Amino acid sequence: MKAVRTIGIVNGGGDAPGLNAVIRAVVRAAISEHGMRVIGIRNGFDGLIWPEGAKEMTEETVSGILPRGGTILGTTNRGNPFAYKTKENGVETVHDYSSLCIDNARRLGIDAIVVIGGDGTQHIARDFHRRGVNVVGVPKTIDNDLDATEVTFGFDTALVIATEAVDRLHTTAESHHRVMLIELMGRDAGWIALHAGIAGGAHIILIPEIPFKFECICDAVRARELRGKRFSLIVVAEGVKLPETDPFGKPIPPAGPGNVANTIAFTLREMLHKEIRVTVLGHVQRGGSPTPFDRILGTRLGVAATDLVAKHHFGRMVCLRSGRIESVSLDEALEKMKYVDPHSEIVHAARAVGATFGDSA
Ligand code: F6P
Repeated sequence: MKAVRTIGIVNGGGDAPGLNAVIRAVVRAAISEHGMRVIGIRNGFDGLIWPEGAKEMTEETVSGILPRGGTILGTTNRGNPFAYKTKENGVETVHDYSSLCIDNARRLGIDAIVVIGGDGTQHIARDFHRRGVNVVGVPKTIDNDLDATEVTFGFDTALVIATEAVDRLHTTAESHHRVMLIELMGRDAGWIALHAGIAGGAHIILIPEIPFKFECICDAVRARELRGKRFSLIVVAEGVKLPETDPFGKPIPPAGPGNVANTIAFTLREMLHKEIRVTVLGHVQRGGSPTPFDRILGTRLGVAATDLVAKHHFGRMVCLRSGRIESVSLDEALEKMKYVDPHSEIVHAARAVGATFGDSA
């Protein structure tokens, strides 16, 4: 096989703190360890459909980016080049731009691509690999829902932000004797909510993996009041599943990220007759400087991905397992997502220290 002289680097999906650490690591390791060139592809795979923004990256390009949030490459969580949706005259059309991407990568002189992203982006990487493109994946998501890796970079930073928010709500909730809900990110999995709930000492934690009942939440709030605790903190994962009807038999309107905690609060107000406030933390969890953990993990993953490229070990994704950086095939990496196991030790620990998941008081 012809030696890899030029690596393309692309990130897709929502940004995650630590992305710049990965980019910096790939660029530095590729140049100094392997004598390769690196081309930065802008705004996810869109940058291979429209490659005008692609640029060679140097030590200078990545200087000073380690503590920076976001991604210097720009990103998008829309647009799969294999099924790219556009609107033409108000009608949605779907294009397969994959061949165009492959041609453009070739024109840019790219021999292999490091693809940083979550499950959606890694699916695209896998599909390019099936079309003969040399790819290596790096797992990324604040949601921490990729099964092949113990933890994804970005999760730790999101958790720090979320925990600080829970701590801050604690003091104001206690002072005002209120029920406070905080909605945290996690589109399909409850990892951020579970961890921030435990770290912040939340009283009730609602996650997609454990169905809740309004009555159980109210019982838990009332039980606290009987113990003289006139406030309660409820952490809500944005992906939590709402019951179809409230306890009065009224249909609950469909709700998703951004308004799920408000929807829950609406019913709780009717049931508890207490002052209830809602905070939706949103993208604050994704922005800003990464924690040392995420910088280090991003660096290790970036270097490991570059080493795999140098060894021509393509179609693989680097990952963290038992504290070591390893790799798995992209097929294996995408086999299943990682959800909170309701019977796991960590859920047991949360319950043992007094939290409820809305499934019992
Ligand atoms: O990247 C994951 C994530 O932050 C989810 O937690 C969240 O549901 C989603 O992205 C938000 O996406 P957007 O940035 O499009 O609002």
